Amino acid sequence: MDKYNTSLATFFFVLILSQAKAFNITTLLGHYSSFSDFNNYLTQTGVAAAINSRQTITVLVVENNNLSPLAGKSQDVLANIMRVHVLLDYFDIQKLQELPNKTVKVPTLFQTTGHANNDQGFLNMTDLGSGSISLGSAAKGETLGSNLVKSIASQPFNISILQISNVIIPLGIDSSTFSPPSSPLPRAPAPSPRKHHSPAPSPAPITGGPTSSLAPSPNRPSAAPAPDTPTGDAPTADTPADAPPPAPTGDHDSSSANSALGVSLVVVVMLNLFLVLVI
Ligand SMILES: *[C@@H]1O[C@H](CO)[C@@H](O)[C@H](O)[C@H]1NC(C)=O
Ligand SMILES: *[C@@H]1O[C@H](CO)[C@@H](O)[C@H](O)[C@H]1NC(C)=O
Ligand SMILES: *[C@@H]1O[C@H](CO)[C@@H](O)[C@H](O)[C@H]1NC(C)=O
Ligand SMILES: *[C@@H]1O[C@H](CO)[C@@H](O)[C@H](O)[C@H]1NC(C)=O
Repeated sequence: MDKYNTSLATFFFVLILSQAKAFNITTLLGHYSSFSDFNNYLTQTGVAAAINSRQTITVLVVENNNLSPLAGKSQDVLANIMRVHVLLDYFDIQKLQELPNKTVKVPTLFQTTGHANNDQGFLNMTDLGSGSISLGSAAKGETLGSNLVKSIASQPFNISILQISNVIIPLGIDSSTFSPPSSPLPRAPAPSPRKHHSPAPSPAPITGGPTSSLAPSPNRPSAAPAPDTPTGDAPTADTPADAPPPAPTGDHDSSSANSALGVSLVVVVMLNLFLVLVI
């Protein structure tokens, strides 16, 4: 039990340290005044926090003067549109110019909400020749109406920020928050205890805290105004789904495993407090 606790605590300690070095999309974009409106949208919808909780991601950004299609959108719809601009993989210019089949279909943060229908949660990026990359929703009947402009910033291979010419608004996304969850989470490894969290088709963003009880993060002060995504960014996808299980795993042992976990969580919380004080 001591050994188990020690290794689990070490695991979380390393996890927390690696989080402490993580990027901050708000800060990264803050250096570019021509993206200030897009940056504000990311913050106000809580999508910035979802981006920061990821390790391998690409954010597609649009200049202030091309954001008029977003005017008048409700907060829910705006949040989903912002999520469409966050790819759950790392793409820089070079990778896009060397696509094996000149085209790729990539899941976005919107796909993780369970509200995306018929490939609305995926983007299609296609090299139309001479290195010019076009982007659009991967859903049927969509066109690739946006073009890659240039790279804004990158931290290989964690985050890449690419400028695109136009916002991408998948057809029907305005009503998507009202439809029942239909798509599986792309990266969810397996049935997890979080299943029971699956969202009712609720029109409003849920303002509750993170769904993961395992990750009290020092990087996310409660001051963050974020209406965070309910199952949204699924932070657990990157976290200890594969944490080392205690060696003896009979059913009758689960209560002692639970108490071991409880003690470990206390240790983790204390480590967090310690780190917050130190950093
Ligand atoms: C960058 O990605 C690697 C591998 O995915 C991960 O181990 C590392 O913690 C990430 N770094 C940051 C700052 O998120
Ligand atoms: C990111 O930076 C912004 C401003 O630079 C700050 O308000 C916010 O708390 C930071 N977020 C994290 C997760 O550190
Ligand atoms: C490229 O296309 C071929 C034939 O359609 C397919 O078998 C292969 O999986 C594709 N490769 C990638 C990386 O998508
Ligand atoms: C992307 O869209 C183009 C044009 O509609 C299409 O030809 C291509 O097959 C799509 N790529 C993928 C990976 O679906």
